[in-house]
Amino acid sequence: MIIGVPKEIKADEYRVGLMPVGAHLLAQDGHTVLVEADAGRASGFEDAAYVEAGAAIVDSSAEVYARAEMVVKVKEPQPEEIGRLRPGQMVFCYFHFAASRELTEACLQSGITAVAYETLADAKGRLPLLTPMSEIAGRMSIQEGAKYLEKPQKGKGILLGGVPGVAPANVLILGGGTVGASAARMAAGLAANVTLMDISLDRLRYLDEIMPANVTTIYCDPHAVRDYARNADLVIGAVLIPGGRAPHLITRSLLREMKDGSVFVDVSIDQGGCAETSRPTTHSVPTYIVDGIVHYCVTNIPGAVSRTSTHALCNATGPYVRQLASLGIDEFAAVSPGHAAAVNVKDGRITNAAVAHAHAEG
Ligand SMILES: NC(=O)c1ccc[n+]([C@@H]2O[C@H](COP(=O)([O-])OP(=O)(O)OC[C@H]3O[C@@H](n4cnc5c(N)ncnc54)[C@H](O)[C@@H]3O)[C@@H](O)[C@H]2O)c1
Repeated sequence: MIIGVPKEIKADEYRVGLMPVGAHLLAQDGHTVLVEADAGRASGFEDAAYVEAGAAIVDSSAEVYARAEMVVKVKEPQPEEIGRLRPGQMVFCYFHFAASRELTEACLQSGITAVAYETLADAKGRLPLLTPMSEIAGRMSIQEGAKYLEKPQKGKGILLGGVPGVAPANVLILGGGTVGASAARMAAGLAANVTLMDISLDRLRYLDEIMPANVTTIYCDPHAVRDYARNADLVIGAVLIPGGRAPHLITRSLLREMKDGSVFVDVSIDQGGCAETSRPTTHSVPTYIVDGIVHYCVTNIPGAVSRTSTHALCNATGPYVRQLASLGIDEFAAVSPGHAAAVNVKDGRITNAAVAHAHAEG
């Protein structure tokens, strides 16, 4: 199979979909690997490393899309890339279709087979290709939140950990999955007063066991969200309904009750965001203010730490890329229900139930 790796063109995206070691293993499996010039540079991989690994460097993204039977990348195809997609071509990357009808329509019309990292599940129902990026985004949400709480960044001028004699910040984390748990551990490490909410009691029991003493677990219902959000300095949105739109836990009226200069980092923005006021932002202009609350809604948070992220992403995607290349889409989807769940769009139809449901609901 011919596998193509284009350079990412989404705003401030510095990751790459395949490391030289991945190209090496694919070449060893008998595949042809085409990598766009400079695709890996921002992650610390020069073209020469890919060539040494057995890949060929091609000059343009157009050539990658024209020749590749399978495109391996990081973020969803951007408007410039949509026109290059070819019927029957497999594209393996993050799509987050539930958040964009426009992208979904474009991919349906293009005739591609869209295999989405974010809905591929393992035997235990976990999402192994979302996990590493969630671990990074969760950690970064606190780093960024701490920064935007600073006065020059329009925050209320609070140090997360406080100092002797001055109380630490209140951090509220909505969703105790991978993002939420990673954020909680970071915030706790900085000595903040952390509240971690989820709707899964089993998950809360587990988190209660493993989290440090300055993390309190609370069952997530609208009253609890309201009580804690009103007193929060930093709120992290980290909920997920796999394949679906994020529920709006922070309403506009609740936002008005929050204190001026508080910061809301909505990591779940890639699934539409968990506040009524969330809208996607980029690393270039990461924040905006609504009702005095600083919103940070960057859709590709891990892209900023591209070296760490590319390693973490490719460690997880690598085995699936090889499997997809060797088996082809039908045999791949037959491996397990979790493999089948990764196939979001095929032959002009939505093939993932949660994605279809999200669009049916509008
Ligand atoms: N912006 C970015 O750069 C970026 C990077 C990585 C992940 N993400 C996104 O972050 C979100 C969270 O990812 P994750 O890996 O932690 O998912 P996860 O499945 O591990 O965790 C989600 C948690 O949300 C909980 N949940 C669901 N509905 C809830 C509700 N109504 N109230 C409270 N909790 C609820 C679930 O029980 C689960 O524990 C996803 O949307 C993911 O795509 C964004």
